[in-house]
Amino acid sequence: MTTDTPKLVPGLEGVPIAESALSLVNGQAGRLTYRGYSIEELTQPGVTFEEIVALLYDGELPNAARVQEITRELETERALTPEQVQFARSAATLTHPMFALQAAVAALGPRDNNFELKVETATKRGISLIAKTGHLVGVIAEAAAGRPYTGPKPGESHAEMMLRMITGKTPSPEHLRVMQALLILQADHSAGNASTFTTRVVTSTKAEPEAVASAAIGALSGPAHGGANEHSLRLFLDIGDPGGAEAKVERLLDDKYKIPGFGHRVYHVKDPRSKVIQVLAAEVVKAGTKEHDLYQIALTVEKVATDRLGDRGLFPNVDLFSGCVFAIGVPIDFFMPAFAASRMAGWMVNMREQWDSGNRLFRPAQVYTGAPDRPFVPLAKR
Ligand SMILES: CC(C)(COP(=O)(O)OP(=O)(O)OC[C@H]1O[C@@H](n2cnc3c(N)ncnc32)[C@H](O)[C@@H]1OP(=O)(O)O)[C@@H](O)C(=O)NCCC(=O)NCCS
Repeated sequence: MTTDTPKLVPGLEGVPIAESALSLVNGQAGRLTYRGYSIEELTQPGVTFEEIVALLYDGELPNAARVQEITRELETERALTPEQVQFARSAATLTHPMFALQAAVAALGPRDNNFELKVETATKRGISLIAKTGHLVGVIAEAAAGRPYTGPKPGESHAEMMLRMITGKTPSPEHLRVMQALLILQADHSAGNASTFTTRVVTSTKAEPEAVASAAIGALSGPAHGGANEHSLRLFLDIGDPGGAEAKVERLLDDKYKIPGFGHRVYHVKDPRSKVIQVLAAEVVKAGTKEHDLYQIALTVEKVATDRLGDRGLFPNVDLFSGCVFAIGVPIDFFMPAFAASRMAGWMVNMREQWDSGNRLFRPAQVYTGAPDRPFVPLAKR
């Protein structure tokens, strides 16, 4: 007799979870596109995060009038109430900035909880969350550094507001260009990555967008996902000296240590985002600085790990070099929150796409491995 026990696919590897017209990851060719446009082209100087938000939502490159409109909308929607600012500042003193961000984003939610009746507001609520998350990262950074709250300035772009509030300094054009590129580069990465899949699952329960967004931030925080950018830089700081890097990485690999920023479930060539980040690194990392040493260590890690693991299809991912590029003044524990502020665009557009596609509740099966049916034994007889 046959049983209908489903076959387990660990990690759902290769199992499609949605149809999506947003971004495409080609793991064999090492290519990433948003709405058909390559990230190499989308991160050119002059392109702004605001344009990418419009592209992801509309499906087409925005013209000048549309850019102006989305820029205005993001600027209006980023406003926070004094209570929301205070909540985020308090959270910043208690925990890692990523968890503070998760809590502060959840706390933006409404008092009612019935998004099915408000689903026509999915785009507006999504844009509002994209705008507010960048602002909240700045609020948390100011509080963590013991600085007073400044808030966005009129006319400031999303990237400029974030970088100024995170670093406490008016960004140079060079640093601003890098921040724009980082926000663009990490804005979406198909529906199948862990945090975007989380977005889809939570959306399918008809939850409010803030519940969707905060769940996605939690998923991104893990070292196997967005946490790898922080972990890779911590590894480079630990290695310390570029001269000793090769031997240390060899030892780590001998010990079966998983190098953060290396390996990917889908890419079996070098992650295209990693290549873009290396170009940015060359623009901002100056010879003779600590960042330059860290970049040299990253290059050594790439070489040693590729020599050892390349034939198994393991190569650098986006996080190997991103720590070096955050040398634009972003503190190490703000790499992940900055990543979350960028990916909020992808999460929110995926949320809308999930609703648009019928939003069937995710309810996969399990393969049960527990005890068979058996009679209950009262406590006195055990
Ligand atoms: C991204 C990642 C989770 C993908 O994992 P996965 O597809 O589930 O693959 P696995 O973790 O099962 O690894 C498969 C094999 O490659 C090895 N491997 C994978 N990533 C590795 C890494 N970064 N360093 C060393 N070995 C690695 C594993 O040890 C395993 O070896 P084994 O078969 O001898 O046990 C994994 O590569 C990883 O943990 N990378 C480091 C964290 C990271 O950079 N995350 C950000 C991703 S954008």
